[in-house]
Amino acid sequence: MTGAGRPLLLAAVMALAAGASAQDAPAAMAGVANPQQARIDYILKCQGCHQPEGRGDIAHTPPLNGEVARFLHVTGGREFLARVPGVASVDLDDARLAQLLNWTLQRFDPGNLPVDFRPYSAGEIAQLRRHPLRLEREATRASLIAAIGENVRRD
Ligand code: HEC
Repeated sequence: MTGAGRPLLLAAVMALAAGASAQDAPAAMAGVANPQQARIDYILKCQGCHQPEGRGDIAHTPPLNGEVARFLHVTGGREFLARVPGVASVDLDDARLAQLLNWTLQRFDPGNLPVDFRPYSAGEIAQLRRHPLRLEREATRASLIAAIGENVRRD
């Protein structure tokens, strides 16, 4: 490479880095030590179904965007989020999965996050993913959504 090319390349790399950190701001997400890694894990492991921006698709996959943290307001919802097959069975270790789930909640649904939100720990994830939901997940999900609906009506 000629010397003249380098400043341009450096500028491009710095612009990319700045863009990435601005996108992940606010930097302080509870239970997310490395937001950049969580974002990449989401892209590699989740986005194929849940789509960019967690918008889901009408036919097969529920949206995470503006929805996912609602589950934290009903009994059993916290456990459910870590036991759905896409989460429980992903090939990430417990700490990385805890970080990814914490990131997913705060990135896609900050508006519904409970004020006293407690991030998932690696230990909690380890326990919950030992019992992945199977066929019963549709019924479990339906009853949680009914409970969420009750909450909304009461508000
Ligand atoms: C093969 C497609 C697929 C992949 C990959 C996938 N999911 Fe899902 N996800 C689903 C479907 C379908 C549901 C609805 C529950 C069910 O039937 O499993 C769901 C449900 C969820 C839920 C519960 C919210 C709800 O509305 O049910 C969360 C949270 C979630 N996924 C997060 C993730 C994360 C994080 C990843 C990546 C580690 C991921 N999913 C990977 C398809 C997928």
